[in-house]
Amino acid sequence: MATRSTLAGFGSYLPRRIVSNDELARRLDTSDQWIRARTGIGQRHIVSEDETAVSMASSAAKRALEFAGIAPECVDAVLVATSTPDQVFPATAVRVLNELGVKNGFGFDIAAACSGFIYALSTADAFIRAGQAKCVIVIGSEVYSRILDWSDRGTAVLFGDGAGAVVLRAENDEADRGLIATHLHADGATGDLLYVDGAIGRPEHTGFLRMSGRDVFRHAVSKLSSSVDETLEAAGLTYSDVNWLVPHQANIRIIEGVARKLALPMERVVVTVDRHANTSAASIPLALDEAVRDGRIRPGDLILMEALGGGLTWGSALARI
Ligand code: COA
Repeated sequence: MATRSTLAGFGSYLPRRIVSNDELARRLDTSDQWIRARTGIGQRHIVSEDETAVSMASSAAKRALEFAGIAPECVDAVLVATSTPDQVFPATAVRVLNELGVKNGFGFDIAAACSGFIYALSTADAFIRAGQAKCVIVIGSEVYSRILDWSDRGTAVLFGDGAGAVVLRAENDEADRGLIATHLHADGATGDLLYVDGAIGRPEHTGFLRMSGRDVFRHAVSKLSSSVDETLEAAGLTYSDVNWLVPHQANIRIIEGVARKLALPMERVVVTVDRHANTSAASIPLALDEAVRDGRIRPGDLILMEALGGGLTWGSALARI
């Protein structure tokens, strides 16, 4: 009998400090009205000194384990999608293993910018299907506030910090639950549309996020729509089978564009961008945790996840809860 990765637990963490658009408008030549109209963002959470990629990931993972009723001893692996780790190494995931008290596991980070959670989910699923792991925590944890150029109004208003986690558990596929299909893509030729202009290995290291917003926008709707089509087709399902679209939360206009292409009413789309802004690899697991805990997403629901980010990288994942 084939093995499936079921989504057994959900958790998240948002930094204590909330920064409104009005607060940003006191420092930057921008306004609440401009930010809301162009992006749908009303506020974002920003880390304080004691909140880091590791601390947020660990909190989200603990909540996800509690939700699943799974003890740390049963965890085989932790995968953390992040482009903003606290340290070059040890990997964020290995620090998280220690925070959780996982003694017999392995872990590593995955850097695929805003698509990171889909990449990590797909990787964890491959380990589970191959029989190499039975329980994997997949986390997105990001501190974009530390790579933003706070004098650039074109990017500073768009991002926020946070973490989300999902526990994947191996089960036989009799119940038709779990991850059904995932698809990943990357196009390095578009690498200069959205990037960070340095890293520790570069002498001219500065490390600020740079973006051609309009170009990214143009790629987003078309690439996300075709990726979603590909995933549904692979599963032999159609738009009308989908109960919830749980998209990466970059911009409400991108989310609405994809929903329109799928003929999905916005009542069936989980939206957090208004309160979280773009938390990169953390945005999908943050949205999932919210919608599962408030009862919108229920056992048996078919959920479609999609994301696009720097690389460009993009992908989608289909799962039955
Ligand atoms: N406040 C006020 N004005 C702003 C501004 C801000 N925060 N940021 C840019 N502007 C100005 C620009 O300077 C420009 O002014 P000009 O016409 O005088 O030159 C004007 O607004 C229009 O800028 P433009 O970049 O063309 O706006 P846009 O409609 O494309 O919206 C984005 C900008 C960034 C909101 C939009 O392109 C976008 O969301 N792109 C996708 C970005 C994204 O999601 N990236 C992450 C993917 S994971």
